[in-house]
Amino acid sequence: MTPLVDPFGRAITYIRVSVTDRCDFRCAYCMSEDMTFLPKPDLLSLEELDRLCSAFVRLGTRKIRVTGGEPLVRRGIMTLFRSLSRHVASGALDELTVTTNGSQLHRFARELADCGVRRVNVSLDTLDPRKFKEITRWGDFAQVMKGIDAAAAAGLKVKINAVALKGFNDHEAPDLVAWAHRCGHDLTFIEVMPLGEVQAARFDQYLPLDELRAALSRRYTLTPSPYASGGPARYFDVAETGGRLGFITPLTHNFCESCNRVRVTCTGTLYMCLGQDDAADLRAPLRRSESDDPLEETIRAAIARKPKGHDFLIERERSHASTGRHMSVTGG
Ligand SMILES: C[S@@+](CC[C@H](N)C(=O)[O-])C[C@H]1O[C@@H](n2cnc3c(N)ncnc32)[C@H](O)[C@@H]1O
Ligand code: SF4
Repeated sequence: MTPLVDPFGRAITYIRVSVTDRCDFRCAYCMSEDMTFLPKPDLLSLEELDRLCSAFVRLGTRKIRVTGGEPLVRRGIMTLFRSLSRHVASGALDELTVTTNGSQLHRFARELADCGVRRVNVSLDTLDPRKFKEITRWGDFAQVMKGIDAAAAAGLKVKINAVALKGFNDHEAPDLVAWAHRCGHDLTFIEVMPLGEVQAARFDQYLPLDELRAALSRRYTLTPSPYASGGPARYFDVAETGGRLGFITPLTHNFCESCNRVRVTCTGTLYMCLGQDDAADLRAPLRRSESDDPLEETIRAAIARKPKGHDFLIERERSHASTGRHMSVTGG
């Protein structure tokens, strides 16, 4: 079967699948407190999600990241990991992984490892329990810490993702680096992106990572690292800790040239680019036929329209969202 290649010659080998738009947290930059979630029948069932992912695997996908909303709050989610693990076992997939807020990791870390998951991304913006409550609104810091420890104990490699927020966690950044590296975790800072309307003004939250890196350079010796995770992060080795530090800068540096990924929402909408609105409905072909042919045709036609890149912009005059979708819809 011919693998998926877009009009700009980029092979599409990585899908991020959001399995739910719901979450047990309400992070201030991601959701408003009174979110309206999708009606359950609109969501793909776990069996449909498996069919969809397996179609992508047949079309050359080598890496699947399960995300959300909070993926580990979806009922029965381990059934999906269990069934997708066959593609890891067969060698068709190089990697099956998950991005989580960590709240359920203490329950599922071992089972994830059993399903062939080797690495997990855990989002954590602060080590201060009071600030953690402030930013996640509903999160329990101790439970997340327990989850991170459980993941490490189960042999999972943990990468911490922290959204850099001006005046919130910028002063704490050196301590986050020290903590993560002491525990043997990678750490990546992410610039806040203008996705979906939330209650706080974006411009107030936005911190260019060049500024954060300059501040970190006063405490640490950062050397550009040749390491590449296949994602958009640029890495630096930190001499003092022996650890690795990543920066994801969608706003200050465009990383679209090497984009190898697409995203699927929990309703089966395929977004060819995180920052653009063009999409393809995969749920209809999934539900229309027991054969996967219509589904594969729809995927191919969509990849043929993958745009060259996004055009996020945060300006003073224009602090509204650049796309109406929240990150919890498209999946982080
Ligand atoms: C939408 S979450 C989904 C997975 C899981 N609930 C979690 O928090 O890891 C994925 C990632 O997106 C990040 N995120 C959410 N909204 C964002 C925004 N507006 N800008 C940048 N990153 C954002 C989160 O911090 C998280 O690391
Ligand atoms: S960032 Fe993740 S944990 Fe926070 S509200 Fe969004 S989906 Fe939930």
